[in-house]
Amino acid sequence: MATSAEAIVDLGAIAHNTRVLKRAMGDAALMAVVKADGFGHGAVAAARAAVEAGAGWVGVTSAFEALEQRAAGLDVPILAWMCGPQDDLAALAEARITLSVATLSHLDAIAAEAERRGVALDVHIKADTGLSRGGAVRSTWPELFGWARKYESAGQVRITGLWSHLANAEETDHPSLAAQQAAFADAIDLARAAGLAPATLHLANSAGILQVPTARFDLGRAGIALYGVPPVPGVDFDLRPAMTVRAGVVQAGDGRAVLPLGFGYGVPRRLGGVAEVLIHGVRRPIMGPVAMDHLVVDVGELPVTEGDEAVFLGPGDRGEPTAVEQAELAGTNPHELLTGIGVRLPRRHLLHTEA
Ligand SMILES: Cc1ncc(COP(=O)(O)O)c(C=O)c1O
Repeated sequence: MATSAEAIVDLGAIAHNTRVLKRAMGDAALMAVVKADGFGHGAVAAARAAVEAGAGWVGVTSAFEALEQRAAGLDVPILAWMCGPQDDLAALAEARITLSVATLSHLDAIAAEAERRGVALDVHIKADTGLSRGGAVRSTWPELFGWARKYESAGQVRITGLWSHLANAEETDHPSLAAQQAAFADAIDLARAAGLAPATLHLANSAGILQVPTARFDLGRAGIALYGVPPVPGVDFDLRPAMTVRAGVVQAGDGRAVLPLGFGYGVPRRLGGVAEVLIHGVRRPIMGPVAMDHLVVDVGELPVTEGDEAVFLGPGDRGEPTAVEQAELAGTNPHELLTGIGVRLPRRHLLHTEA
């Protein structure tokens, strides 16, 4: 019996998913993508669980996220891919963050910082191979690679990686998949022709890791699958969902139960009237609309009393809705739903999967 709402994060599930993904990568490495507070699961705890289970890299977007991991004591290579010349390059260099670069102005700024420090800084160049959402566009590759080589020769940077991001690895026969792989091959050839020798090539996200062997290269960047959500709807990859969002009933009567869970905690407002929660072992509908701090469940004849548990989402083992189901009803994807579970909802991390 408990009345507060919480997100329970099963770190044992994250460890299990890491092992599934690492197995798919074979001898190549796995990166745990823990941006957006580990897709809502807690970035530091998620990274730690994944690294202990075999992830050799951690991936984030911002300088803040990268520095947070180092400050927490994480010692594996960290790639940050949404930094720019305006970021605190001194702090990033000090923390040994590998920076992703897509523009010459960013590369120039990193080289200048390296000169000040008298050490070479590690860089992965991101090539846009067709997603058109960041990365050096093809027309800029010759100049960018040329400058990268010059800075490398001057001892200012080490181009240790070359990478890109797939638009659609969920459908293995999607034409963009072959086109992006061909463009990535061109980028590799051009980089090598410019004298670069990036040791770590990477292209695949979760879906790529699990079902596109030709996209695996040296490193796979796993996000959603790490948290147990199948990257391809309906396909069983033996992943375990890591998050459960639950709450205790704070008020019951008249066939209704009030739960202290609302859109202020990340339950989409539009789920009112369309989604269900699990209570007393059965699914009961949310009466719309979801408020900021609470929602109301139509419990019918169930003998619900204060403190009884209701589950908004979880692995589905007990019949509760999954993140995939709730996201679909909300008209979004599980990524948005899970990252929307805000810090207002306390997280409780379980070290091992509890049966
Ligand atoms: C650059 C990059 N790589 C990998 C991932 C992980 O993608 P997924 O969640 O599909 O595994 C993301 C997340 O969106 C990303 O932005």
